[in-house]
Amino acid sequence: MTLDGKIATQKGSSEISGQEDLLRVHRLRKEMDGIMVGINTVLADDPRLTVHKISSNPEDNPLRVVVDSKARTPPEYRILNPEAPTLIAVSQEASPDKIKALEEDGKAEVIICGDKQVDLNCLMDELGNKGIKTLMLEGGSTLNYSMLGAGLVNEIRVCIAPMIAGGVKAKTLVDGKGVDYMKDAFRLNLKKSYSLGKDLIIEYEVL
Ligand SMILES: NC(=O)c1ccc[n+]([C@@H]2O[C@H](COP(=O)([O-])OP(=O)(O)OC[C@H]3O[C@@H](n4cnc5c(N)ncnc54)[C@H](OP(=O)(O)O)[C@@H]3O)[C@@H](O)[C@H]2O)c1
Repeated sequence: MTLDGKIATQKGSSEISGQEDLLRVHRLRKEMDGIMVGINTVLADDPRLTVHKISSNPEDNPLRVVVDSKARTPPEYRILNPEAPTLIAVSQEASPDKIKALEEDGKAEVIICGDKQVDLNCLMDELGNKGIKTLMLEGGSTLNYSMLGAGLVNEIRVCIAPMIAGGVKAKTLVDGKGVDYMKDAFRLNLKKSYSLGKDLIIEYEVL
């Protein structure tokens, strides 16, 4: 994120990290069983969510997980390429036709969790049953808030780039409904901080 907590500009441009940080993220991905993002991140960035900057071995790529109630993931997007396996979590709102298009040719596995939006506790149980024990959430801000609110985040690692974007509509690290009073804010414990190139890395445990 930028110093003012933005993870994208108000037009959705989100290239923030320096080269060293991108390598750090890919190394971290490689240690994980899964990487998860919300559907708006897929639609905005068309990410690959692989470890291609540090390895060309397909086995180093963790499972990619998209939280996508209505199965809006476009079948031609890179998240469904054959570089790594992908799981799309949808709710009962997703149409059978869209689910079928995502499952076609083994592009993705689709699981249904929840009636309207994806039920994140149900999703974590399903992932646990599949042997996914470590999961890195990579945004965006709406899903970040829901995961924190559901008590499903153990640790937070942020990279603060020496940039300020501003913009009242620009997404921040955590948006969603937010809390009304500071006494209800999610509390963190500082574990580690260090500089990486021009960026600052901060690691917290969630209390
Ligand atoms: N700088 C960075 O590191 C970084 C990282 C990631 C993203 N980004 C930026 O963040 C922006 C996208 O963030 P965003 O906040 O708009 O979207 P998001 O968090 O990526 O996706 C949110 C969507 O996920 C779906 N969803 C399904 N179940 C949910 C649940 N239980 N809780 C929350 N969401 C659920 C909802 O859509 P449905 O109801 O349709 O399913 C919801 O609108 C993009 O501009 C992207 O570039 C930046």
